[in-house]
Amino acid sequence: MNADELRLKYLEFFKSKAHAQIQGKSLLPDNDPTVLFTTAGMHPLVPYLLGQEHPAGTRLVDYQKCIRTGDIDAVGDASHLTFFEMLGNWSLGDYFKEGAIEMSFEFLTSPQWLGIPLERLGVTVFEGDATVPRDEESAMVWKRLGIPEDRISYRPRADNWWGPAGTTGPCGPDSEMFIDMEKAPCGPDCAPGCSCGKWLENWNDVFMQYNKTAEGVYEPLARKCVDTGMGIERTVTILKGRQSVYDTEIFSPIIKAVEKAAAYTYGSDGEKDKSVRIICDHVRASTFILGDPKAVSPSNVGAGYVLRRLIRRAVRHGRKLGITGLVLSPIAQVIVDQMSGPYPELAEHQGYIIEELDKEEQKFLETLQKGEHEFEKLLPNLLKDPRKIMSGRLAFKLYDTYGFPIELTRELATEQGLTINRAEFDEAFKKHQELSRAGNEQVFKGGLVDQGEMSVKYHTATHLLHKALRMVLGAHVAQKGSNITAERMRFDFSHDAPMTRDELEQVQAIVNEQIRRDLPVTMGVMSLDEATASGAIALFGEKYESQVKVYSIGDFSREVCGGPHVEHIGSMGTFRIQKEQSSSAGVRRIRAVLE
Ligand code: SER
Repeated sequence: MNADELRLKYLEFFKSKAHAQIQGKSLLPDNDPTVLFTTAGMHPLVPYLLGQEHPAGTRLVDYQKCIRTGDIDAVGDASHLTFFEMLGNWSLGDYFKEGAIEMSFEFLTSPQWLGIPLERLGVTVFEGDATVPRDEESAMVWKRLGIPEDRISYRPRADNWWGPAGTTGPCGPDSEMFIDMEKAPCGPDCAPGCSCGKWLENWNDVFMQYNKTAEGVYEPLARKCVDTGMGIERTVTILKGRQSVYDTEIFSPIIKAVEKAAAYTYGSDGEKDKSVRIICDHVRASTFILGDPKAVSPSNVGAGYVLRRLIRRAVRHGRKLGITGLVLSPIAQVIVDQMSGPYPELAEHQGYIIEELDKEEQKFLETLQKGEHEFEKLLPNLLKDPRKIMSGRLAFKLYDTYGFPIELTRELATEQGLTINRAEFDEAFKKHQELSRAGNEQVFKGGLVDQGEMSVKYHTATHLLHKALRMVLGAHVAQKGSNITAERMRFDFSHDAPMTRDELEQVQAIVNEQIRRDLPVTMGVMSLDEATASGAIALFGEKYESQVKVYSIGDFSREVCGGPHVEHIGSMGTFRIQKEQSSSAGVRRIRAVLE
């Protein structure tokens, strides 16, 4: 059974059990500042799990595209992916533990459906703690269906409790299903839930019973719900009798495209194979992000930053395979062709996908070339060192000034028989991070005098601009003053060189991206210590009241400020920088308008 067949069978099975099929949603969630991407099928359903009526009824089924970047460093092994598809069925106050488990069991084991032999199935259930009792009810159902006791593991909250990726919302104990991959157990305690590779989790039934509030309280839900999620890639791996998701037809056409670009045959070298897998996963995730109806483009913030990292990481691994030119878009094209059936948005946006990938790849290749050029200039001197050591300070300068990744500096150095003083690099890197953090506490702004509608918008724009400048130019940027009228804003800040056109464009794009995200502006009153501890920008040496106001713009900016500000930034218009010039020594001035 391949992925297309599995998707159809799942929908068919649950429709035969009176579930209504609903549409999967965007990868970029609406109105949820707690996450950048849809991380599970339940994400778009949170309001219904919390009690709202769903127009399609109380039993739902769908397939949903998801992105999880928490495990990005594990990508390249047999089963971790940043992008994956999840099949899900929901009960909104309808069936609960017994019904959910019976249906999961039937779909997995019945010869009419997946026909996985009972002997290969193992499960975990919640072992209980001070707040929620041990889940004997689920264990009883599994036993009745024929799962022997030694394949039912009781596990703690860290393993068998599920809530959305943000910290609040519907949550509860879960029961996870694992397939025995027919490897030797790692020891006497090896049981379902063990991470040694013998047991592969492919489905999770969550019993939503609580709403976790912002205060950390677990409120019982008025209506108990079920949320289940089955990973398509892993399940196909199991059904095909393979050990790795990459050995299925989900990935084989993508691997072929990488092989072609790299003139390398997958399977000949362990390290290179890992790079092939990383490229496949990252290009797949990037293709889906760019192909989403709410697509973002690569940038230095939020979802756009994750996209940039995925693309750049793919390029870097391409270089390990000897790829130097533009290759990502032909790989993306294979994914568009392969996945546009279930996800027609990919075909619809393929022009944009290809264009953005090419642009970002090109840009990064230029960064790399610049870095390599700088390295070559340093080389004659480096080679004079009898110990053949490159200082960490120099390696950091390449990173800080040219954005050249330390891994590449190391590669170039190794080729020349040099080693980098890594401890020194790490120290410089750490200091840089600390400075950024300290720099966060530099500016205090009093309230706005003219409180007309336009002036208030410009006032909010100064916060966006301030943050964007710090992102593009560095944490040394601190506000030195501002001047707002109903027609324009002026913003003075510390920086000792004229900004380049590219920097100005980046700053402008970051501000406009936030406006497009229509982030909410919220205000909290707290002590200055609490404000700075929460990362708010404030000025040392300024006189403060015992309590200060902190304005947050979504997850983007946070400043101590007297206000007032707009409530939602989506209405501010388009931000355009008109002029950037010197104001005094070491201080630059930007003049900008909202159009
Ligand atoms: N939300 C649960 C998970 O992601 C089940 O769908 O595992």
